[in-house]
Amino acid sequence: MDFFFFVLLEMILPLLLRRSSSIQRLSIHLRDDLGHHKSRILSFSPPLASVTHGLINSRRILTPFVHPLRRFMSQGSGTIDNHTNLMTEAFIPTGDIHKESSSSSSSSSSSSSSSHSTSTSNYLGYWLLGTAGMVFAMVSLGGITRLTRSGLSIVEWRPEGEKLPQTDEEWRVEFEKYKSFPEYKRVNSRMSLDEFKPIYFMEWAHRMWGRALGVVFGVPLVVFIVRGMIPQGFTLRLAGLFLLGGGQGAIGWWMVKSGLEHERFEGAENSHVRVSVSPYRLATHLSMAFSLYSLLLWNAWDMFLLSAKERQSLITFAESSVVSRLRPFVLGSAGVIATTVFSGAFVAGNDAGHAYNDWPLFAGQIVPEDIWIPSLGLRNFFENTACVQFVHRNLAYSSLASVALLHTVCARQGGLNKFPITVQRGIIFMSVLVTFQASLGIVTLMLYVPVELGALHQAGSLALWTSALYTVHSIVRVRRGLPLAPM
Ligand code: HEM
Repeated sequence: MDFFFFVLLEMILPLLLRRSSSIQRLSIHLRDDLGHHKSRILSFSPPLASVTHGLINSRRILTPFVHPLRRFMSQGSGTIDNHTNLMTEAFIPTGDIHKESSSSSSSSSSSSSSSHSTSTSNYLGYWLLGTAGMVFAMVSLGGITRLTRSGLSIVEWRPEGEKLPQTDEEWRVEFEKYKSFPEYKRVNSRMSLDEFKPIYFMEWAHRMWGRALGVVFGVPLVVFIVRGMIPQGFTLRLAGLFLLGGGQGAIGWWMVKSGLEHERFEGAENSHVRVSVSPYRLATHLSMAFSLYSLLLWNAWDMFLLSAKERQSLITFAESSVVSRLRPFVLGSAGVIATTVFSGAFVAGNDAGHAYNDWPLFAGQIVPEDIWIPSLGLRNFFENTACVQFVHRNLAYSSLASVALLHTVCARQGGLNKFPITVQRGIIFMSVLVTFQASLGIVTLMLYVPVELGALHQAGSLALWTSALYTVHSIVRVRRGLPLAPM
């Protein structure tokens, strides 16, 4: 009986009544398991809207039929459309239902506001995706800056940015400043002004790109907030991302400063000590860039999920046990890939790609001879070239193995096509990209890290991470369920 009531209310009445020319809209207020309030709007013709309104405004009537249905759904007995699924899976109705309007004209405005919010969240999603793309380009530009040894050419930092020198005199001033720092003194003492210009330009472009990113993200953010276009729950997240971006600029300068400190390189005139930034600061800078990129993507995908189509495709898998079995393996694989990326920063930071350039062995050994320098202790993992490269290679193999394991688990659950399409897509991309990335790493190493391959290897790591994050996002969102409507 309860179920009949629900079907009448939720499925048949709206279908019949939407055909009517004069439509009323009822706003139904619901509360989820965490106590968050959501609302849903249904359309009815005026006479039946009154009946329906009276009928469902009673908590005593609504609540009893929803709970049996929730049980029915969780037992997985039967197929119910997504509308019902949303109603019962993710939220407990409070039974609090209000009539929103009584004329067809206001109903159309309410309808347009609902579809407007969906398309707004799509636009916001594309904006976030665009800024994530700019971060991708920024990381790649940063990689080229490092590989071309341009990063220490601008020896000052101003939040508003440095002006690109225009006259010979301005160029000479900048060059003179550079000459007083360790990189020029120890490495580039024969550099001419003409050789200085391209490295200066590279670093300048990297910094200015970062500022452009701040504007492309910050200005629309303020406009969206002022116009109330940001869906509930996103404002703080996005404001936090803006601050994180600003922090990344400061971390970049903190990293560069470590390569400008005279005392770090004192007494090293005749030793093999390289003039470069601290590997720890480089790893912090790279990890922050990856985090910023990941959070932008995550929020962009969340925005897209607010559109009904995507929401439906995920929610139908809410009770699927195959998805729950795969989830820890996806999370584990993403964790191993993230650790490989992190260790890569130390390979780059220690210039470890210029040693042990044979493969699969290390100078003919399975384990490099000087893998452990006792005086360094745990710092071996971050500062000893042999150890750093050994760890990175083995983590890369583990990444490959973890993705292969994903395929095995999928096969055991009946094949990849048993999973939501987004999870399928993510796993396929992960497989292709992890194979490409590991092969590229080997070639890059064996060719002594040419700039093009080094830069491609860095971009490849970001592409691989994107596929892993996408898979994680898909599988996490399947579990959580989603809001009923954009708020
Ligand atoms: C899942 C596979 C891999 C991932 C995700 C990965 C990731 C990374 C990352 C993030 C960097 C730092 C890039 C930078 O900051 O410029 C890096 C550097 C490096 N990786 Fe990998 N890597 C992988 C596999 C490999 C393999 C298999 C090798 C070699 C056997 C390798 C060799 C190197 C070398 C030589 C560098 C230093 C390049 C430079 O100085 O710019 N990588 N890797």
